[in-house]
Amino acid sequence: MAITKEQVLDALRKVDDPDLKKDLVTLNMIDDIVIDGNTIRFTVILTTPACPLKEYLREQCVSAIHESLGSDLRVEINMTSQVTTTRSSAPILPQVKNIIAVASGKGGVGKSTVTANLAVALARSGAKVGIVDADISGPSMPVMFNCEHEQPGVVQKDGRNLIIPIEQYGVKLISIGLLTPAESAVVWRGPMAGSALRQFLADTEWGELDYLLIDLPPGTSDIHLTLVQTVPVTGAVIVTTPQKVAVADARKGLAMFQQPQINVPVLGVVENMAYFSPEELPDHKYYLFGREGGMQLAEKSNVPFLGEIPLVQSIRESGDNGYPAVMKDGITAEAFRVLAETLARQVAIRNAAAEKTKVVEVK
Ligand SMILES: Nc1ncnc2c1ncn2[C@@H]1O[C@H](COP(=O)(O)OP(=O)(O)OP(=O)(O)O)[C@@H](O)[C@H]1O
Ligand SMILES: [Mg+2]
Repeated sequence: MAITKEQVLDALRKVDDPDLKKDLVTLNMIDDIVIDGNTIRFTVILTTPACPLKEYLREQCVSAIHESLGSDLRVEINMTSQVTTTRSSAPILPQVKNIIAVASGKGGVGKSTVTANLAVALARSGAKVGIVDADISGPSMPVMFNCEHEQPGVVQKDGRNLIIPIEQYGVKLISIGLLTPAESAVVWRGPMAGSALRQFLADTEWGELDYLLIDLPPGTSDIHLTLVQTVPVTGAVIVTTPQKVAVADARKGLAMFQQPQINVPVLGVVENMAYFSPEELPDHKYYLFGREGGMQLAEKSNVPFLGEIPLVQSIRESGDNGYPAVMKDGITAEAFRVLAETLARQVAIRNAAAEKTKVVEVK
């Protein structure tokens, strides 16, 4: 007897997404089932192109079909993705599926480096990605993306002038450093910095994006408040080094997002400069700043640990040369790629919980 689509769906109901803890059929992740003699074709719609479970799910689907319907069947699976969101009815940037704030407590721990590399890694996986450089008085992105001399365009839309972000390495980018000469950046303070950030969010032509990363200045500044008051933020990533003083400050940064009146979910902690490795001796690890501080912060705060990035000379050089480290092959690129997958996974888990973040009211 010929196999029916219903039978295929029943078989695939036995495959659970380990993160979302429901089966692929219930999650609406199966589409386009075609039964062609002995061949069964279908599409699996993942929650992100940077899905670390891609191969695992493929294997599970094949086994489920073989077990339920016969081991002689040929199974052809087309893996696609549709990044999830809770922002589709948001008043500002409804076409941006996820807004992710990258923050720390202490300065210089690598927020901007992590933001740049995460963005490029996500874009390379096939996602549509943008970066807002929200560090108005100390923008880093133009250097890290080697585009200091580019100028964003302007487009008129519905009678308004919108800034067009520049595009580099597949990532859309806006920074105050692209709009003003470097030496004048220091005059951008307080309310002016806030209004610049609002323009980057509300008056910039971002188009459709899967992930918009916000590179924040250090600490817990007015800019942080402006961000959460302007747009509902999907979640925050906290960057720290393992060092005690950095972790103590990161804890404050993390607590800020978790305050009841702000209530932005923390997607996890990244431990940067986790250990030093000489390029020629990658197996040697020297724990210059102490050990596992970021991991312990994540554990104590009950948020996910997203991963660790070693302190490697080429990461610094890549930042200074404007060519993010993730674009070169090797262990550091791999570390950033895995970090991006882990982050994308946490975003999908957060979105499945389906709680919308609210814009923070000004009181
Ligand atoms: N894993 C790493 N290995 C080597 N160098 C790194 C690493 N991460 C960051 N750096 C370097 O450390 C310096 C500070 O990094 P970065 O600018 O990303 O930090 P930040 O937290 O954004 O700083 P700020 O608080 O000033 O915004 C830069 O020179 C950067 O190239
Ligand atoms: Mg920075």
